Amino acid sequence: MGLLGTVAVAVWAMLPAYVPNNVAVVVGGGAPLDGGRTWRGRRLLGGGKTWRGTLGGWFAGMILAVLLNVLQPIADQLLGLGLPAFPPAAAVSLPLGAMFGDIAASFLKRRSGRARGAPLPVVDQLDFVVGALVAALIVTPGWFIATFTPAVLVAVVVLTPVLHVATNGIAYVVGLKDEPW
Ligand code: CTP
Ligand code: MG
Repeated sequence: MGLLGTVAVAVWAMLPAYVPNNVAVVVGGGAPLDGGRTWRGRRLLGGGKTWRGTLGGWFAGMILAVLLNVLQPIADQLLGLGLPAFPPAAAVSLPLGAMFGDIAASFLKRRSGRARGAPLPVVDQLDFVVGALVAALIVTPGWFIATFTPAVLVAVVVLTPVLHVATNGIAYVVGLKDEPW
C-alpha cells in the first residue's frame, strides 16, 4: 500500500470516529451526563457533556459507518485502495469510543481544575482517537488488526490533530463552537 492508500484508509476507517464530536457540537445541549454532580468540589464532567450531544454523536457515527459500507464497493472498485467496510461491532464501537474518549478528557480537565471549554492541547486533539481505537480493539480485535496496520496508525495519529484543528477552527468561525479548540 502506498502513501496515498495508507492515508485514504486512515481517514476512511476513522470517519465514524471523527464525525461524532462535531455532531455533538451541533445537536448538544440540555441535560448534562453528570446530572450536575460534583466530586471534591468540582463538576464530575461539566455542562459541556450532554445526553443529547453524546447520543446524537454516537448515532451519527453509526449511520455514517452504514453509509460508508454502501459506498465501499464502489469506492474500492474506482480507487482500488483497499478501503475497509465496517462490521456492526466496528460501526458501534468507533463512534461510542470517540465520545467516551472526549468524556474521559473532560473528567481529567475537571480534576485538574480546568473550567468548561478550557483547552488541553494534545489531549483535546487525540482523546477521541484513543477512545475510538481502544474501543474497536476491545470489541472487534480481528477487524482492528486487519484495518489499523502500523502505517495506518501512524497516519491516523499524524493526520487527526490537523483535521481536528481545521474543523474546530471552521466550527468556531461559523459560530457553532465557543472556542476554536
Ligand atoms: N457536546 C455535548 N455532548 C458531548 C460533547 C460535546 O453536548 N458529549 C457539545 C456541548 O454543547 C459542548 C460543545 O459540544 O459545549 C463543545 O464540545 P467540547 O469542546 O468537547 O466541550 P466543552 O464545552 O469545551 O467542555 P469541556 O471543557 O468539558 O471539554
Ligand atoms: Mg472544548
